[in-house]
Amino acid sequence: MWLPCRCAAKYVAASFSRGVSASFLHALRRNRSSWNAAAFMPESSGFEGVSGRDALHDYSVSHSESFWAAVARQRLSWIRPFDVVQDCDLSQGRISWFEGGKLNVSVNCLDRHVHTCPERVALIWERDEQGSEVRYTYKELLEMTCRLGNLLRRQGVKKGDCVTIYMPTCPLAVASMLACARIGAAHNVVFAGFSAEALAERIRDAQSSTVITVNQGVRGGKITELKRTVDAAVRSCPSVQQVFVAMRTEKQVEMTDRDFVLEEEMLKEDVVCEPAPMDSEDVLFLLYTSGSTGKPKGLVHTQAGYLLYAAFTHRYVFGYHDGDVFGCVADIGWITGHSYTVYGPLANGGTTVLFESTPVYPDPGRYWEMVERLRINQFYGAPTAIRLLIKYGDQWVKKYDRSSLTTLGSVGEPINTEAWEWYNRVVGEGRCPVVDTWWQTETGGICIAPKPSEPDAEIVPGMAMRPFFGIKPVLMDTEGKVLTSNNTSGALCMAQPWPGMARTIHNNHQRFIETYFQPYPGYFFTGDGAYRSEKGYYQITGRLDDVINVSGHRIGTAEIEDVVNQCPAVAESAVIGYSHSIKGQGVYAFVVLKKGVDIQEADISKQLNNMVSEKIAKYACPEFVQFAKRLPKTRSGKIMRRVLRKVVECDLDSLGDLSTLDDPAAVQEIIKGHEKLLSK
Ligand code: WTA
Repeated sequence: MWLPCRCAAKYVAASFSRGVSASFLHALRRNRSSWNAAAFMPESSGFEGVSGRDALHDYSVSHSESFWAAVARQRLSWIRPFDVVQDCDLSQGRISWFEGGKLNVSVNCLDRHVHTCPERVALIWERDEQGSEVRYTYKELLEMTCRLGNLLRRQGVKKGDCVTIYMPTCPLAVASMLACARIGAAHNVVFAGFSAEALAERIRDAQSSTVITVNQGVRGGKITELKRTVDAAVRSCPSVQQVFVAMRTEKQVEMTDRDFVLEEEMLKEDVVCEPAPMDSEDVLFLLYTSGSTGKPKGLVHTQAGYLLYAAFTHRYVFGYHDGDVFGCVADIGWITGHSYTVYGPLANGGTTVLFESTPVYPDPGRYWEMVERLRINQFYGAPTAIRLLIKYGDQWVKKYDRSSLTTLGSVGEPINTEAWEWYNRVVGEGRCPVVDTWWQTETGGICIAPKPSEPDAEIVPGMAMRPFFGIKPVLMDTEGKVLTSNNTSGALCMAQPWPGMARTIHNNHQRFIETYFQPYPGYFFTGDGAYRSEKGYYQITGRLDDVINVSGHRIGTAEIEDVVNQCPAVAESAVIGYSHSIKGQGVYAFVVLKKGVDIQEADISKQLNNMVSEKIAKYACPEFVQFAKRLPKTRSGKIMRRVLRKVVECDLDSLGDLSTLDDPAAVQEIIKGHEKLLSK
């Protein structure tokens, strides 16, 4: 793996100041007691008569154009200023921000910081091997990115191409993303836990001719053969012409004519790479995520709006300041890794941690030992890991000094009160605000979070609470009418566009419109349900569609059903999510076998698990497989998943209206089968 020459150098917290931050700090000191909008957010200094957080939020929504124009001018470096702030029409699914503007995302994330503070640490690579972290300054990351950009260019990657990156969280993965941005190519990062088939499907859909990977992955002390997975995937991807392989371990892997050792090729390249001037609305990346059909969708994010929103939310939700060390432990294969490990922190000139390991390796103190060693200020993780760590006991946390921490973030799924309290009390010693951040791959960045708020404003456990600047949530009733009162629940939609939102689904704009804009015309539909409290705070209640969330990983039940149904013994299946004490949700599969199948159920279960892990990923494997003679269906033949969910949750008193059921006896069979499975 490409290492900086002075990897052992000690990190000196370089505290430098751009004009904006110095005046901000000064003003903050003066205004500790009263919240002053311009002091809090220098970008807002031109907004007449706006004081207080709520007033600033109101302004950001009512004067959306002047708000975002001011923020975009000050927060981003433009090659050419934009002409039009926005041209959006939610009723048609048309979203466009900062048209006419030209910029380069890698220049915004690297060059401008290299000019002011070349030796500041950009990345701290927290390798799987504890205590062997490696730091990369902005200068080093720029050089690495430029060499990679030149290499891609030399190998024919052009503006408009899409490069697939199948790598664990590591500096070369970040440099690969930024190198694409530098030369105007889009990237498509695929989570390195996905199987060869899942990877192949994403490479094909993105029509990538170039793939970047590593020889082997190292996680939790275990080796994964990532290059071998790429080899298997590429066999069914005729578009792929070249594969670059970074050497994470010493192990030589089989190489073909199409394969190149990344580090060797990079050495041949110059450290200066001309950045491509990009239009605001050119594609920055695709990121595949699950929806309610079997086919994952490649959500498209563009240059200026995405970067601005990631940077702006990173700065204000987490209270990130120059010199802080930001520790987001999400994998770069997910949107959280894109926005809050890579783009947000780097656009802000921050120091960001790349976490390669797991919360329990080599022991359950890993996160907190890392916090102590790296002096992490903001820690951003998932409820599933918190729930897991609670089980190991407080001593694993208390062993380590967490005095550097100022803010604790949570993302990906609802955080239950017990986990929230523990995070707050044990990890944060009651001094660090816990921010439960709600957002999605589609939203690009955080949309609802307790912060920013007035300094002493309350934070309610387990609630995302406050819409971010420029975000206007609404709740809809079942008839599609906006619910205006508080203390009410409904489908969560957004009434206004914001710069970070996805622009389309790659190759399928129609699906984009149907999924997000047709359910509630004129609004963006999130797919989630939410409750608005008496005080107007939002709490996410969960998905309204057939998407579930396993250990913070989003997966469509239809995707799993597609695989299960491919098993020759299976006639039909229904997959649902159920509450799981650690993973948040677990996968539960109901399976009807074909007539005359004579195979042990246990063998079929094993076979199904292997299939799901081979075709999707291990995390999507069913925890339970219940065999049934038939599934409860409506008279029109639709599987009644609601009933299945209630049975699995053991909530038999609220099976609801069964009048449309074709044969009520089917439900009794399902209940009996479930009891039998639990008693095993
Ligand atoms: C869920 C992850 C409750 C939600 C950033 C959403 C949450 C989906 C929260 C998006 C939260 C995310 N509270 N639920 N704080 N954050 N979700 O695209 O159902 O991987 O629609 O993006 O995760 O998952 P995705």
